[in-house]
Amino acid sequence: MKIGILTSGGDCPGLNAVIRGAVLKGGRVHDAEFVGIRNGWRGLVQGDFTTLDRHSVRGLSRQGGTILGSSRTNPFEGANGGPENIQRTLDAEGIDAVIAIGGEGTLTAAHRLTEAGLKIVGVPKTIDNDLEATDYSFGFNTAVEIATEAIDRLRTTAESHGRCMVVEVMGRHVGWIALHSGMAGGAHAILIPEQPKTMEQICEWVEHVRDRGRAPVIVVSEGFLLAGMEQAHSSKGLDAFDRPRLGGISEIIAPLIEQRTGIESRATVLGHTQRGGAPSAYDRVLATRLGMAAIDAIYDRRWGSMVSLRGTEIEVVSIADATIGLKKVSPARYAEAAVLFG
Ligand code: F6P
Repeated sequence: MKIGILTSGGDCPGLNAVIRGAVLKGGRVHDAEFVGIRNGWRGLVQGDFTTLDRHSVRGLSRQGGTILGSSRTNPFEGANGGPENIQRTLDAEGIDAVIAIGGEGTLTAAHRLTEAGLKIVGVPKTIDNDLEATDYSFGFNTAVEIATEAIDRLRTTAESHGRCMVVEVMGRHVGWIALHSGMAGGAHAILIPEQPKTMEQICEWVEHVRDRGRAPVIVVSEGFLLAGMEQAHSSKGLDAFDRPRLGGISEIIAPLIEQRTGIESRATVLGHTQRGGAPSAYDRVLATRLGMAAIDAIYDRRWGSMVSLRGTEIEVVSIADATIGLKKVSPARYAEAAVLFG
């Protein structure tokens, strides 16, 4: 079989480890051949392919980013888009099946294409960890490690100056990165999209911390809404899918804290540092296992399915189940963390 691999959507530490796991297992166990599809769906629509053999994946599990490139492209758009055109492009290249590594948008598109008869297996990818039907997605653990290290570093400088630090992490719709890094870093409040809060509440936590002689550290997701806000803060325009580019809510909250409490407050937006660099050991293992499992799913002809982590086992689930909604932080998980706020 000749298998095409693509990585689509925002990049994520561990993408290369998935590619390596798939190519190595596919070659060794099934004698599969591979071709790299460049820049996500765009490469499939434009017929932009690259060599992907054993040699090209050497040493790849520790490498961040994606050797195949990525884009936020809708495969149903453009003169060469849509299932019939894409199937023609695959046939012309002799590609029998595709592994699509991506988040919600990529997997939703993959699902629609398989409904039209294309042979695709999905691998879940997102640092936000917001996909249903998988306990964790690779990239999340690395992002949490990076955010935790930043919180630890910001804490020492906060203590030196008696300042309040507001640390902004990624998390468009869900607060998993904030919840985990905030808990790991001992944050005095964690603000997530699922739980709007008032400035009064935030300042009450900050003042408690100050009154105990400590420097407050607040972790906030980019998608957090102050009570009364109707949508997440965005001042950088729209992305290719017309989604607002987020980032900057910490820069609104920090001055308001300073104004209301008199405590000097600073904002730090971690942004894409959370998606860059080498994956953690945990993510390398998870990504490698998912890549290997995707190959088995291809040989089992499980079109429209996605490999996923359930507990410690890798399973095969339907993409439809994974894209049914977002995996949000439950009120109980938030309440558990909130016991330690203030
Ligand atoms: O979905 C993952 C994510 O990192 C979100 O947290 C963030 O809002 C978005 O990607 C940023 O995407 P881009 O790099 O395209 O601006």
